[in-house]
Amino acid sequence: MFETDTGGAQIQLRALTKQFPGQAEPAVDSVDLDIPAGELVAFVGPSGCGKTTTMKMINRLVEPTSGEIRIGGEDVLALPPDELRRHIGYVIQQIGLFPHLTIGENVGLVPKLLGWDRPKAEARTEDLLALVNLEPGEYRDRYPRQLSGGQQQRVGVARALAADPPVMLMDEPFGATDPITREHLQNEFLKLQKDLRKTIIFVTHDFEEAIKLGDRIAVLRNQSHIAQYDTPANILANPADDYVASFIGADATLKRLALMTVDEVPTEGPPDPALPQVETGTSLREALDLMVANGTDRCSSPAGVLSYTALCASIGREEVAAGDR
Ligand SMILES: Nc1ncnc2c1ncn2[C@@H]1O[C@H](COP(=O)(O)OP(=O)(O)OP(=O)(O)O)[C@@H](O)[C@H]1O
Ligand SMILES: [Mg+2]
Repeated sequence: MFETDTGGAQIQLRALTKQFPGQAEPAVDSVDLDIPAGELVAFVGPSGCGKTTTMKMINRLVEPTSGEIRIGGEDVLALPPDELRRHIGYVIQQIGLFPHLTIGENVGLVPKLLGWDRPKAEARTEDLLALVNLEPGEYRDRYPRQLSGGQQQRVGVARALAADPPVMLMDEPFGATDPITREHLQNEFLKLQKDLRKTIIFVTHDFEEAIKLGDRIAVLRNQSHIAQYDTPANILANPADDYVASFIGADATLKRLALMTVDEVPTEGPPDPALPQVETGTSLREALDLMVANGTDRCSSPAGVLSYTALCASIGREEVAAGDR
């Protein structure tokens, strides 16, 4: 199911609408959205704006009132819903593990439904539990109630990845985890996605998380109306309006610096061992932090000397750098 050139399949929403019975207004009103194959799109928007409803229409846990959904060009509304759902990984907002199945059985459920042989399904389960930092020997045979909320959520992520689906819908998948676990999960997930290139819709309340994980971010208003849909760098540099700016917060420049690395800034002269040292791949935000901490306006990377002025220029802030002198 679903034509793909990469690991993922393109998703297209056209005038997608959901009117729940007895409600004055549609929960989702005429959404148009194209998600390229292999990209992760973060949905950000206030509680009740229609994020979950939009997602649930894609795997048809909620039937659209009108509109179109295509995945890899195929008309989703013409496919059998059960079959469809086996090819879409889904991490639901409330975790939703089966309480009477062990952790291993929960993760292995879809591969089993898809008819994978047992050794293959079991090996996959072990790999995925290890990936989400749950030691398989310790957790595989436990039941969901014997895990913390954050651990259950990680099992939910492993379960969604189990059958290697081209499309993943993830509804605040890391919401119940502490900041350290969350950062670990984000980093592991980014590494994984680099290889897998699945098409992912990822709901988060955390704009930093959207910036870190998203190839693009869709900032949503009520009824899933799209306020802006663009790359994190473009949204940070040019928020469409005050509504979008309110999600970014006051430190847009620092957030932009966090998205770029020292390798993107032209250097001045060869590496200087007398200056504070940054490694290849260090973010500009970290480089700036290092300069401030050392009371200097330069640092050195393996490529050469990096100045505060060059750093500002790289994000189009030459005038700020000059004006600060
Ligand atoms: N089954 C339903 N029947 C009636 N109204 C519903 C139903 N499900 C959701 N809604 C309403 O549709 C709107 C969108 O809900 P949805 O769950 O999509 O929001 P959300 O953006 O995911 O919010 P949150 O961030 O709180 O999870 C809300 O006003 C909600 O009350
Ligand atoms: Mg929701």
